[in-house]
Amino acid sequence: MLIDSYERVVDYLRVSVTERCNFRCQYCMPEKPFSWVPKENLLSFEELFEFIKIAIDEGVKKIRITGGEPLLREDLDKFIKMIYDYQPSIDLAMTTNAFLLKGTAQRLKNAGLKRINVSIDTLKPEIAQAIAGKDVLKNVLEGVEEALKVGLSVKVNMVPMKGMNANEIVDVLEYCKQRNMSIRFIEYMENVHAKANISGMKSHELLEILREKYEFTDEGFDGASPSHSYRMKDGYKFGIIEPYEDDFCKKCNRIRLTAEGYLIPCLYFDEAMSIAECIKRGDIKGAALVLKEVVRTKPEKNRWGGEDAAVSSRAFYETGG
Ligand code: 5AD
Ligand code: SF4
Repeated sequence: MLIDSYERVVDYLRVSVTERCNFRCQYCMPEKPFSWVPKENLLSFEELFEFIKIAIDEGVKKIRITGGEPLLREDLDKFIKMIYDYQPSIDLAMTTNAFLLKGTAQRLKNAGLKRINVSIDTLKPEIAQAIAGKDVLKNVLEGVEEALKVGLSVKVNMVPMKGMNANEIVDVLEYCKQRNMSIRFIEYMENVHAKANISGMKSHELLEILREKYEFTDEGFDGASPSHSYRMKDGYKFGIIEPYEDDFCKKCNRIRLTAEGYLIPCLYFDEAMSIAECIKRGDIKGAALVLKEVVRTKPEKNRWGGEDAAVSSRAFYETGG
């Protein structure tokens, strides 16, 4: 079992297969052009899988494939099947922008994928274009419908931003509710790569808007998830992710692996250790030691909130938030 210095069990690994993305979401990507990691620096699926086996053997029970946009990497379904075949009981999920889901959802499901998380920040094509930098909404919504059709469970993320999509909170929630998909509103996490003038909404502002329309009760944290859960009278649950709150990190159970092989102990901080060299020379013990060291050095909490609050310099697009 992997346990950090604050007695948190780490059993959730997020694996980024590429930091490239076909979107340029304002809250995630830099405004100015930048260069991608050269393709030859990426670990192959076989190499990533070597590390995943170590992580599973050390106690990881949940794996999420992320990016960038993971569907940009060819043969992703084969990679998913490698993981599934090694440990069919693993909770195998993926975060995707859904643009390429149409036509691939069935293959992903057949390979062993169970769940996906998708961002739907708006239901207006022109706002989607403003947020993602291109006209994406039609493909996204079609991708989501197809995922539901093939039986993938779908969770939706929305990042509410003032002057952008803030007035669509109820509409997006209703869209999800009608399809029995849970929705989580994510407070915008300040980071240096995002567009400068984004004004995110805090949970109390969201709750105020939602209370005008719905009655709901506070259910506290949703298991080990960082999402604060609320239940409506008819049983539908929604969540709010509040990284600025003091208790956000208390139950953190996750570490992140970049496509280049860096293991990152915390979403907020840049600190990382590479497993690439060990994996490339077949040094299983060495890679397991790096994994344990990264778990050991997991910080107690992020610095978005509190007295010494600061903007994060980590590139979320490397690991998909
Ligand atoms: N703040 C909040 N959420 C973010 N995401 C990406 N960048 C940010 C940010 N700066 C979320 C998106 C997406 C997920 C991968 O991460 O909503 O759904
Ligand atoms: Fe791409 Fe996701 Fe970042 Fe948007 S949030 S630019 S879809 S990685």
